[in-house]
Amino acid sequence: MNTAELTEKYVLGNYGRFPLSFSRGEGCWIWDEAGRKYLDFATGIAVCSLGHSPDVMRNALEEQGGKLIHCSNLYQIREQAELAEFLVEKVVERPGKVFFCNSGAEANDTLIKLARKYAFDKYGESGKSGEVITCKQSFHGRTLGGIAATGQEKVKIGFDPLLPGFLHVPFNDCETLREAVSEKTVAILFEPLQGEGGIHPATPEFLQTASDLREEFDLLLMFDEVQCGAGRSGDWCGWRTVLKDSEVNVEPDAVSWAKGLGGGFPIGAIWAADSCQAALGPGTHGSTFGGTPLGSAVSLAVLKEIEEAGLLRNVRNQEARIRKRVSEWNVPAVDSLRGLGLMLGFVLDRSVLEKNNEFRDSGKTPSLFVVGKLMEAGMLTVPAGTEVVRWLPPLNVTDGEVDTALQLFEEVVSSL
Ligand SMILES: Cc1ncc(COP(=O)(O)O)c(C=O)c1O
Repeated sequence: MNTAELTEKYVLGNYGRFPLSFSRGEGCWIWDEAGRKYLDFATGIAVCSLGHSPDVMRNALEEQGGKLIHCSNLYQIREQAELAEFLVEKVVERPGKVFFCNSGAEANDTLIKLARKYAFDKYGESGKSGEVITCKQSFHGRTLGGIAATGQEKVKIGFDPLLPGFLHVPFNDCETLREAVSEKTVAILFEPLQGEGGIHPATPEFLQTASDLREEFDLLLMFDEVQCGAGRSGDWCGWRTVLKDSEVNVEPDAVSWAKGLGGGFPIGAIWAADSCQAALGPGTHGSTFGGTPLGSAVSLAVLKEIEEAGLLRNVRNQEARIRKRVSEWNVPAVDSLRGLGLMLGFVLDRSVLEKNNEFRDSGKTPSLFVVGKLMEAGMLTVPAGTEVVRWLPPLNVTDGEVDTALQLFEEVVSSL
């Protein structure tokens, strides 16, 4: 059986998969089983921060793998503590503590538990009712907590009864947020740069409003940096990139990460400020595989490489190069470019694509159609919502690779 047949026969059909399977990757490039090479600007959906099979990850895997792969959080784990130190001292740069898990959804579940427990410890059972406010079009993962927090109906259908206690407000709508917050609210949780919802950056005003409400109602301000964190925005922290040209200065009480944190090794984490971290004391939460010696060593190697190779600067430079070139394009099917750093979304103009017979007959959304066309031309990208094509190249992408991507994208989209 070939891979497609084997998958069809034995693997649960919960993913809509493209008819492609890969056997090898190197840097920004990936090869399918037939030996065809693709420029990978999908990176496993913002995961492979250093590209495919980078030396630093291979070395860390080999070195730590030869020493100790797993023990348990029953014991002290040196590599985990060192990774936590890096996240506190170099990434967030504010006093707090870190918890490790395996995925973004699990990290967000942890944030929700943190906020509810924080309020419970402070106000008791009859105090606040554990309500968490999130945003419409958000995406926070596929666990029961994740789908309840996510502001998109499509992820919830068929899974009732949902975890109660979530309110969704329109993203960047300060007034509605103000009206939604009440004495019941324990947290406001949102992505500083919405990914799955279509690459929408938060406004500084929205962050400021959320921060003001935090003071007024003693709730936790929590950022989901699962996709936009770990350097992808051009700063270690997505919210700081959002605020960089503004007068606003807002810091969260807690943050979640996953995806790029491990560069392809599965790891998730949260940081909680000193003011609230104690809510998750002994026996309140845990995860068998959270912060193993191997996962922690690999993640630390990835973060150190981002720091030592100056990759945050590269992210900002490549973003500027992409924006400049795109501003010179005359590609009617591309309406605009949104995003931050190397989390960029090309917004498509559906009315232009409608003139294309193949698109009309395909029954596909504009983003899926264009992603498919790019794939045929040898480039991997990711849809974000129905109208946006996402670029998520590795943080160490080179000038040459960006130039190749720009040329390919321009050619393919112009021809539609
Ligand atoms: C912002 C955000 N939060 C949470 C998640 C869920 O992460 P995971 O798939 O690792 O559970 C994602 C995944 O796309 C995400 O983009």
